Amino acid sequence: MFEKEFELLPQLQDHPRVDLGLTRTNIDPLNRLGSELGISLSTKRDDTLNLALGGNKVRQLEYYLGPAQQMGADTVLITGAVQSNFVRLCAAAARKLGWHPVIQLEDRVPNTDPIYNNSGNVLIDKMLGAEIHYFPEGENEAAADANLDAIAADLKTKGRTPYVIHLGTDHPPLGGLGYALCAVETYVQLQEAGQQVDHVVIPSGSSLTHAGFLAGARAIGWDVPIHGICVRRGVEPQKPRVLQRTREVMSLLGGVAEISENDIIVDDTVLAPGYGQLNDEVMEAINLSARQEALLLDPVYTGRTMAGLISLVRRGVIEPNQSTLFIHTGGLPALFAYETKLTEFAGW
Ligand SMILES: Cc1ncc(COP(=O)(O)O)c(C=O)c1O
Repeated sequence: MFEKEFELLPQLQDHPRVDLGLTRTNIDPLNRLGSELGISLSTKRDDTLNLALGGNKVRQLEYYLGPAQQMGADTVLITGAVQSNFVRLCAAAARKLGWHPVIQLEDRVPNTDPIYNNSGNVLIDKMLGAEIHYFPEGENEAAADANLDAIAADLKTKGRTPYVIHLGTDHPPLGGLGYALCAVETYVQLQEAGQQVDHVVIPSGSSLTHAGFLAGARAIGWDVPIHGICVRRGVEPQKPRVLQRTREVMSLLGGVAEISENDIIVDDTVLAPGYGQLNDEVMEAINLSARQEALLLDPVYTGRTMAGLISLVRRGVIEPNQSTLFIHTGGLPALFAYETKLTEFAGW
C-alpha cells in the first residue's frame, strides 16, 4: 500500500508511523449534487477510514502515535471539545495498540442538552473505556495542553509511560503528515483515473488537515487551489495559523517546496454564529447532500465545509462546470449528539 505515494514523496517515510489499518479511500462522483450546483463534483471519502467510525483524524493519528510507539508509551492523552472526533479516534487508536486512553473534554460549545453531553462521540469514548477528565476553558489551547501535561506528570509518578498529543501551535504538526500523504494519494488516484480537478475544498479547524494537504500537494508540484473552509476561527486568525502550520509541515518534508501567502486560501463566509453552531447554510448543505446523494454530513465540520463549497459556487469563485473535489473528513457520530438542535433547526 502507498508504494506510488512514497515514491513521489519519499520524505513521508522519514517519520515514524503506527499502523491503524489505513487504506486508500475512494473518490466518489456526486453527479446529482454537482449538476444542481452547475459544477462537476466528487468527494474523497475519508469518512470511511477504517477505525471506530472513521474520519480525518485516523490519518493524523498514524503519524502522531509513531513517536509514542518508539518511546514505549502505554498511555495516550488528548484534549478536545466534548463532541471531538479527534478524542474519540485517539481513544480508539490507543485501544487498537493496546494502550490506555486518557481524554480531556473542554467546554467549547454553549450546549447543556444532555444528548449533546452524553451521546455521539462521548458514548463511544465511554464504550472504549477512556479515562475522562473535564476542562471548562475551551478557548484556551495553552491552558488545556498544560492541564493535560499535569495529568501526564501524575500518571508518570504512578509508573505509567504517558504520551501527550498537544493541540497548541507550539508543538510539531505531525498529524499534518497524514494529510500530506492524503494529498499525494489523491493526486495518484486522479492520475490513474485520467482525471484532474480545478479546486479542492477542505475543512480548516486546528488546520492540520488543510495545512497537511496543501504541503503535500505543493511538495509534489500539484498547484491546485485548496480552499480551507473555516469551521472554528475567522479568516484573520486562521490565515496566519494555516501559513505557519503549512510551512512547518513542509519543513518536516525536508523543505522540498516553498509555501507563499498566495497558497493560503481560507473562507469564513459560513462560520457565523460560531464553532459547532448551526446556521441556514449548513442546514441547507446537510439536507441537499442527504437528499441528492445520500451523502451524510455532520453539523460541525463537513456540513459547514459543504456550505462553504456551495457559497464559493454561488459567489463565482468556483466557476460553472469547473471540477471540484470535496474532502469528506467524517465526524458522523456528532449527528446523533446534535439530534435536538438539528430537529429544532430543520423543523423536522
Ligand atoms: C470530522 C472533522 N473534520 C474536520 C476537522 C478539522 O480538521 P483540523 O482540525 O485538522 O483542521 C475535524 C477536527 O476535529 C473533524 O473532526
